[in-house]
Amino acid sequence: MAAYYVTTPIYYVNDAPHIGHAYTTTAGDVLTRWRRQRGDDVLFLTGVDEHGTKVQRAAEAGGVSPQEWVDRLVRDSWRPVLETIDAANDDFIRTTEPRHTERVQRFWEVVRDNGYVYEADYEGPYCVGCEEFKLPGDLQLPEDGGEPLCPVHGRPVEMVKEKNWFFQLSEFTDALIAHYEANPQAVEPASAYNEVMAFLRGGLVDISMSRSSVAWGISLPWDERQVIYVWFDALLNYATAVGYGASQGTPDAELFAQAWPADVHLVGKDILRFHAVYWPAMLLAAGLPLPRKVFAHGWLLVGGEKMSKTRLTGIAPEHITDHFGSDAFRYYFMRAIQFGQDGSFSWEDMSARYTAELANGLGNLASRATAMVQRYRDGSLPASGPATEAEQTLIDLLAEVAPRADAAMGALDFSGGIAEVRRFIDAVNLYVTEQEPWVLAKDEALAERLDTVLATVCEALRAIAVLYNPVMPKAMGQLWEQLGAEPALGPIAGQRVGEVARWGQLPTGVAVTKGAALFPRLEEPAE
Ligand code: MSP
Repeated sequence: MAAYYVTTPIYYVNDAPHIGHAYTTTAGDVLTRWRRQRGDDVLFLTGVDEHGTKVQRAAEAGGVSPQEWVDRLVRDSWRPVLETIDAANDDFIRTTEPRHTERVQRFWEVVRDNGYVYEADYEGPYCVGCEEFKLPGDLQLPEDGGEPLCPVHGRPVEMVKEKNWFFQLSEFTDALIAHYEANPQAVEPASAYNEVMAFLRGGLVDISMSRSSVAWGISLPWDERQVIYVWFDALLNYATAVGYGASQGTPDAELFAQAWPADVHLVGKDILRFHAVYWPAMLLAAGLPLPRKVFAHGWLLVGGEKMSKTRLTGIAPEHITDHFGSDAFRYYFMRAIQFGQDGSFSWEDMSARYTAELANGLGNLASRATAMVQRYRDGSLPASGPATEAEQTLIDLLAEVAPRADAAMGALDFSGGIAEVRRFIDAVNLYVTEQEPWVLAKDEALAERLDTVLATVCEALRAIAVLYNPVMPKAMGQLWEQLGAEPALGPIAGQRVGEVARWGQLPTGVAVTKGAALFPRLEEPAE
């Protein structure tokens, strides 16, 4: 079966990760878990970008070799952050690994053999923060007439003059325009698509693909004095990780056949041009199929500007997860920011949503329901009597919400998908308030009605657990256990989105327990 292949950018290891990096990985992970629950065979790749001037300088400043620098940061920070946010990635690629470096060299040999590489002089501005040769229109000219600045980093660019090898990017202008005209869904959201089309219509110019003044990189196979420009090494990770360039008949070659082209490259909007212009041009030059989609999400902002280490505004993910837990971290960023737009993080907003939507909204519903089954029915799920209009409303709403959540998640509209589930949770909470099971419990004559209400709420919680599992796997795993669902229905991750609205799956008699609170109340204030 062809794999559904999702990637994040590979992050620079000049420093430790901040929540901007964790944001993209979280989105990739939520998408991965959702697609798995749709029954897809998903391959989720993330990793790190270890070469280039930025990393080299960070290592120099730290007084160690670049290899020691990256080894330490990858071990102490970049791998652990995956656990911090509960990412279920299948692979983690490092660009210093031989599987990558060898295949990158092979790739550029192919492109050169195909006639798209030549030697020439380069002179122009370079931003080390972006690791990018800037074009005249890219720079910000300060009003006081000072040096031109990189608009992303707010720092002066450096002038570079080198004899380099060039990639004949200009050859691909028309082919890329035609490709995107025929496949408008290949760059999303629409604002990103328009930006890419405008850039392409302006015409592409050839770009340097090697550096002679940089030492930390993959050497050019035909010119050992130069290293491959870091972006033209890094972009290839998406292909090398799944076996591009492996010998025919090997498992890696088979993996490449199944995984390529990638289904979604998730990227921040700052690196859209690399992914939607340079990368597909490279692939065309090598005769490889193009990725199905590049999705550019917005920035996490601090004080209206992109959160970044360069600006000293980065917040470490564990700073948030230590207080709120990984589920709330994942929920908050997917819920509060429309994927594709910028958003700001604030402790106040996060605390408010945690309390209202998770602790009070869902957590309270789960603890009330499980506690009542325990108290009124000795922890054994009662059989439902006939559904009245109140139950039917919930059954119908679930049948409406589940496919809508699926469509939203499939379109990478994570907040839209979550909103659908919230709509259902609100309705279930309202149902409990209106049915007043604590009142029914006082009258033996209403025992059957109480059975129905308890069974209905637990069945609704079953569906909520399944739909929220991709977003909050820890808490929903806990809820699954409290509902006694696993022995009857199997593991939660094996539950299918397409089946979730089928009512009455949680069997009568399962052991329901009131366990620990899914979203404990916050005790001390954040910070
Ligand atoms: N190494 C390159 C990417 C190579 S991909 C072949 C790079 N690395 S980076 O460390 O700067 O990370 C870039 C990615 O991290 C962004 O594209 C985005 O996914 C994420 N983010 C970094 N800062 C961010 C914010 N402030 N907000 C949201 N995402 C951010 O560029």
